Amino acid sequence: MKPLLFAFPGNDDLAASLIQEINAEKGEFTLRRFPDGETYIRIQTPVAERDIITFCTLHEPDEKILPLLFFAQTSKDLGARRVGLVSPYLAYLRQDRRFHEGEAVSSKYFAKALSSAFDWLVTVDPHLHRYHSLSEIYTIPTKVMHAAEKIGGWIRDHVNKPVLIGPDAESEQWVSQVARISGCPFLVLEKIRRGDRDVQVSLPDPKALSGKTPVLVDDIVSTARTMIEAVRHLRDKSATAPICIAVHGIFSGQAYEELLAAGAEKVITCNTIPHPSNVIDLSGLLVDGIKELETAKR
Ligand code: R5P
Repeated sequence: MKPLLFAFPGNDDLAASLIQEINAEKGEFTLRRFPDGETYIRIQTPVAERDIITFCTLHEPDEKILPLLFFAQTSKDLGARRVGLVSPYLAYLRQDRRFHEGEAVSSKYFAKALSSAFDWLVTVDPHLHRYHSLSEIYTIPTKVMHAAEKIGGWIRDHVNKPVLIGPDAESEQWVSQVARISGCPFLVLEKIRRGDRDVQVSLPDPKALSGKTPVLVDDIVSTARTMIEAVRHLRDKSATAPICIAVHGIFSGQAYEELLAAGAEKVITCNTIPHPSNVIDLSGLLVDGIKELETAKR
């Protein structure tokens, strides 16, 4: 029988292409708040003996996590066979250690909660910095898809003489791969983060930029302070305005507008989080990931 795919609110476009591509059936459910703010869930499509794919990207995760856990539990109570989660952006990975005495290592707790509710997980480029793999904190089978090939292809097709720039050491893993795929040079800057919105980024070498189009590549843009700092330096050192590319465009508050105002030529993201900057479509990658885990379980 076809798997049933349930899309959480705000995920309809990407979910619709997946339903078609993997030949799933669309599941219907109601998710709303009671007047006191508690979550109400009702699953209308019968789920007994069915394989379930739950589709929910996880920016602004706090408002989504409890409904997701309740949804998975309800499906299982109603007899679903296996309940998987497709979350193109997986949240809570940056707090991967106790940086200051008394802090929560929230990445672990979030992973534990999702692992307790779902049977498998597919995501794209999770922010693995001090963890080498999701299996260090997730106890369910996980499949990580990588956007590098798609981003590299976009750069190759759209940018004249690119030089890629990673804004910090953590970005090297993405930038180096994208550079290899698009066949262009790259450099990595150094970043000091003193607070959520207080970021300092080192100056790029002007020689490396000469005659090139600077392309900043990072996995996540949240406040955009990292990219904004880098864009400002690049505007000082290069005649050509930089293009900014991120896998996951969270853009908290006015971050997107502020990044454009800082002098970015364009801001491009993958469609892991719905946003007007979405240009690079990763639906094919998600289909491959789902097929792999769906087949593995049989
Ligand atoms: C950091 O570790 C990530 O790779 C990004 O550089 C960071 O999350 C960007 O954050 P923001 O946009 O808030 O500077």
